[in-house]
Amino acid sequence: MKIFVTGGAGFIGSNFIHYWLREHARDEVVNFDALTYAGNLENLRGAEGNKRYRFIKGDITDAAAVARAMAGSDTVVHFAAETHVDRSILGPTVFVQTNVVGTQVLLDAALAAKVQRFHHISTDEVFGQLMLGTNEAFREDTPYRPRNPYSATKAAADHLVRAYHTTYGLPVTVSNTANNFGPYMFPEKLIPLAITNLLEGKPVPIYGDGKYVRDWLYVDDHCRAIDLILEKGKTGETYCIGGLTQDVSNLEVVKKIIALLGANESAIQFVKDRPAHDRRYAIDWSKAERELGYQPAHSFDEWLGKTVAWYQKNTAWWQRVKSGEYRDYYRRQYENR
Ligand code: NAD
Ligand code: DAU
Repeated sequence: MKIFVTGGAGFIGSNFIHYWLREHARDEVVNFDALTYAGNLENLRGAEGNKRYRFIKGDITDAAAVARAMAGSDTVVHFAAETHVDRSILGPTVFVQTNVVGTQVLLDAALAAKVQRFHHISTDEVFGQLMLGTNEAFREDTPYRPRNPYSATKAAADHLVRAYHTTYGLPVTVSNTANNFGPYMFPEKLIPLAITNLLEGKPVPIYGDGKYVRDWLYVDDHCRAIDLILEKGKTGETYCIGGLTQDVSNLEVVKKIIALLGANESAIQFVKDRPAHDRRYAIDWSKAERELGYQPAHSFDEWLGKTVAWYQKNTAWWQRVKSGEYRDYYRRQYENR
């Protein structure tokens, strides 16, 4: 099989490419990525030189480039996106361009290339927020209520993907997934930001009261879930994919990281809240369990420890990432907060 991956130089995409080359010894992987600030070919060092792997630099909004690169592919797995909520609040335009227009360009190309499957990676954020202290969880039939520009563009993309199935018969599947964590995660997101700030002796900014809850999913469990969807998922269907956490607040997550690093809780700095900050996410992954045999295998505490160890070991990787553009972003986002 020839699999066309978009956004494979980012966090989840690069983990997925490593996973796929390891688990599917005969398949070829094409990685189509524009290398935005979040794209990093260093994440794929282990794949370079593998004859079954090819990188093509290109933008998913560029129809001609997409058509050329996708020709001959059997399956598309679409990760490419602008992904950081705070950046979408600072500047939504590129989110509409990449997440909505880019997805539509890919859908057209997939129709023309007659691919056997178009799998779209989406997020639980499209469902909006849940309240603290409830057992409610997002399911495949939860209504869409996106509350920030990032999630609104992902919701629009999801609707387009489903519309191409019902209108043109494109064989699509969609996954709405919880907060991932693991190696190669860009240090603008909470877990790697906290780890790397602590390693640098800097404070860790906690938005608002810190009592916000995310459903944490180790990235390898996500990759396995995508594999199961490609193998057993029904076209036209959506699967919600979550992790093994009980509700754990951002403050507790940061305290766990501080304990793992032997740092001091005085590093915690409460800062002004994010606008439209979603209170709680939780995923009911029982449909994926029932229909695909999916179960997350990696517990939060154990794999948080391994993730912290990965960042301790790979200092050069995140130090390079945190230089340059990241510094300007960090100043804009956190100065005067
Ligand atoms: P990321 O920000 O780490 O990487 C995004 C990648 O997409 C980068 O390599 C970037 O260069 C590429 N890209 C961006 N714009 C592009 C364009 N116009 N053309 C081609 N490539 C482009 O993202 P991530 O955290 O790995 O997320 C991957 C996907 O998973 C996204 O669709 C995201 O919405 C979804 N998702 C992420 C999470 C999470 O916790 N990170 C959770 C649920 C869903
Ligand atoms: O739920 C899936 C989503 O998870 C993905 O679709 C997004 O691409 C991904 O970025 C992530 O979104 P979040 O907004 O949940 O992730 P982030 O790491 O930015 O924030 C996690 C929580 O931590 C959230 O409640 C905000 C809070 N936070 C974040 C940062 C960066 C802080 O308190 N301080 C911070 O400095």
